Amino acid sequence: MIKAEKLCKLYGAHTKHKVQAVEEVNFTIPKNSFIILKGPSGSGKTTLLNIIGTLDRPTTGKVFIDGEEITTFSDIALSSLRRQKIGFIFQDFNLIPRLPSWENVTYPLIPMGIPVKERFTKARSLLEIMGLEDRITHAPEELSGGQQQRVAIARALVNNPEIIIADEPTSNIDEETSAKLLNILSDLKHKGTTIVVATHDSRFNEIADETFTMKKGRFQ
Ligand SMILES: Nc1ncnc2c1ncn2[C@@H]1O[C@H](COP(=O)(O)OP(=O)(O)OP(=O)(O)O)[C@@H](O)[C@H]1O
Ligand SMILES: [Mg+2]
Repeated sequence: MIKAEKLCKLYGAHTKHKVQAVEEVNFTIPKNSFIILKGPSGSGKTTLLNIIGTLDRPTTGKVFIDGEEITTFSDIALSSLRRQKIGFIFQDFNLIPRLPSWENVTYPLIPMGIPVKERFTKARSLLEIMGLEDRITHAPEELSGGQQQRVAIARALVNNPEIIIADEPTSNIDEETSAKLLNILSDLKHKGTTIVVATHDSRFNEIADETFTMKKGRFQ
């Protein structure tokens, strides 16, 4: 379960570009639920996902994951929690340049000491699912935007995470691949995964349990 209490994020506190990106947001996301996050560009969706995905810290407020207040965790404890529990699909993919697709996909497994052969096999099967069996050794700069997004999706799934956070995961991919992703996420939800997706793609409505709508940093 993910819970947020009075979450606030202020960017640029000491600059003339102060932005209150998230303001007094409260929510509870039950385990095994599928949540959609909607709202206009700049309303704070990515900021919020980064905070619940442990990639960023709120300015004030608390976040709990499985009952633990993660806002008090050290950076090391946060990255360990992230490795164990969270798969993140970034809006801008965040792949490591020059690293082949399969190594990008299995990068999160390196700290777990998983042998290279096993990592390669795992990456290949995920890349096959994403229709990238002929791009296994290509680097991100040799891939189209949609292909990079599919590598990023495969990477988010590689550690069988309990929580999947996806930031506009279908924004660059075709209908067929989007439908495949929807099926994968729907299957994972049925297996007990908690999923939070920022998206305007209406096909997600069918599988979502709840929709949160943001406007200027607040929940509506
Ligand atoms: N790193 C940053 N530093 C300063 N301001 C930021 C930063 N990231 C985002 N912002 C500001 O915070 C606000 C919320 O941004 P955010 O990226 O969370 O919006 P979003 O809802 O994800 O938008 P989009 O739909 O365009 O992806 C924006 O107005 C933006 O100007
Ligand atoms: Mg965004």
